[in-house]
Amino acid sequence: MKYSSTGRTGTAGRTDTGSVEKVADELRALADARAVGARLPSTRELQQRLGVGPVTVQRALARLVTEGALVTRPGAGTFVAARRTPRVGDTDWQQVALGASPVAGSGGVELVLGRASVHGFELGAGYLDASLRADSRLAAAATRAVRRPDAWAAPPAMGVAELRSWFGRQVGADPSEVLITPAAQGALSAAFRALLPAGSPLLFAVPTYHGALAVARSAGLVPVPVPTDADGVRPELLERAFAATSARLLFLQPTYANPTGAVLAHDRRRAVLDICEKAGAFIVEDDFSRWLGHGQLAPPPLWRDDDAGHVITICSLTKILAPSLRVGALVARGPVMNRLAAMRQVDDFFVPTPLQHTAIEMVTGPGWAAQVRAVSTALRVRMAALTAALAAELPDCSFENPHGGISLWLRLPRGTDDQVVATRAARLGVSVIPGRYFVVGEQDSSHLRLCVAGIGEQDIPTAVALLAEAVHASAGSIETGALVG
Ligand SMILES: Cc1ncc(COP(=O)(O)O)c(C=O)c1O
Repeated sequence: MKYSSTGRTGTAGRTDTGSVEKVADELRALADARAVGARLPSTRELQQRLGVGPVTVQRALARLVTEGALVTRPGAGTFVAARRTPRVGDTDWQQVALGASPVAGSGGVELVLGRASVHGFELGAGYLDASLRADSRLAAAATRAVRRPDAWAAPPAMGVAELRSWFGRQVGADPSEVLITPAAQGALSAAFRALLPAGSPLLFAVPTYHGALAVARSAGLVPVPVPTDADGVRPELLERAFAATSARLLFLQPTYANPTGAVLAHDRRRAVLDICEKAGAFIVEDDFSRWLGHGQLAPPPLWRDDDAGHVITICSLTKILAPSLRVGALVARGPVMNRLAAMRQVDDFFVPTPLQHTAIEMVTGPGWAAQVRAVSTALRVRMAALTAALAAELPDCSFENPHGGISLWLRLPRGTDDQVVATRAARLGVSVIPGRYFVVGEQDSSHLRLCVAGIGEQDIPTAVALLAEAVHASAGSIETGALVG
């Protein structure tokens, strides 16, 4: 094979990087095909064989010597080096150095991103599948964003002004009360660590988003459960939890909570705020599902009912647009904003400018309203298909009907182990997340979280039929301690 104009035979002394790369690839293949210690053809032969000049050959040879694929012996030639085997030193010392894990793995957070096989059914993923994502509009928006003159400059510390204003309008906040974050997970991480020193109690309305629990644990905080019912967190138990722990922070999802889909009842909003005011505590309101009402508008964020700076609201664009558009906001009032902004800056300075501009293009462009409509309609249709299939296939399981969000909290028949069911379901090609990840302490975890974000309506009946098979095969698995090996 002959390469390149500048590296051709007869142009000794001239070369270009592209032809060196190609010759190096060719030499690598030659070396791979030979035994260790075999001699490579001479430089002159290689020049002729590959149709390149001596400088190109020498540079390519030098590169392979650096990589360790060849060795040169002055006066004797170039030889195939001993092949490196992956180095497997003893890394057991790390177990001692690392000690106990503060997060016990990732707490199942990786499951949010989906893991069903190509032919499987995805009832686990918490993000939209490709059919609902705005991929082509995102590509166009990102192209425009990276071409802006200031695209690669650092943005203002609190975020690009237009984006702060937009988030502010969604929540009912002044732009000065908005800090742009790397989506909701980044906001949660900054907020928990900014508000509480390690070792502090943090109240969670449970069951709760397992990613928030993982953040709390990794920050050395102590999650304390506060039970919920179909109307959200139970005020009398919340009051008791504050009194018992002197906690200074409550994590709450008042709107279409993950995993239950519950909405904090209108008459509980004031009660919850009064209790937090009395306790001198903050509420981190995770408003991740603002645009995920099932064909209806979501209730206003709790932020609107508070003017004394108790509520810190988290917004995100990932659920409505795409998981990789990692743009969100922390909305806060009072001195706490300085604390949050400082923590964010220490973490990773800022959200990249091209991503912020892509977000602006998306939310202010003509397709935004259509995207919100399309997603909320699709989620309604999918959830209806899911509840119908569950009622038909699993009458011995129970659940509340969600009116928004992406998830449903399925109570398994008594005595059925959630992990055993999830493992069996995975073998049958259905991905679900066991309930244990969403609870704290002694709370009953024999539930599954089922999500409709990542599965088409047409696949739901088959997925649920397979899931039913897994549930029935796992009957009594808690009592028997069954393990699906
Ligand atoms: C309740 C809740 N909060 C936050 C997140 C994190 O979302 P983001 O992609 O915006 O970081 C998720 C993701 O599943 C979630 O369910």
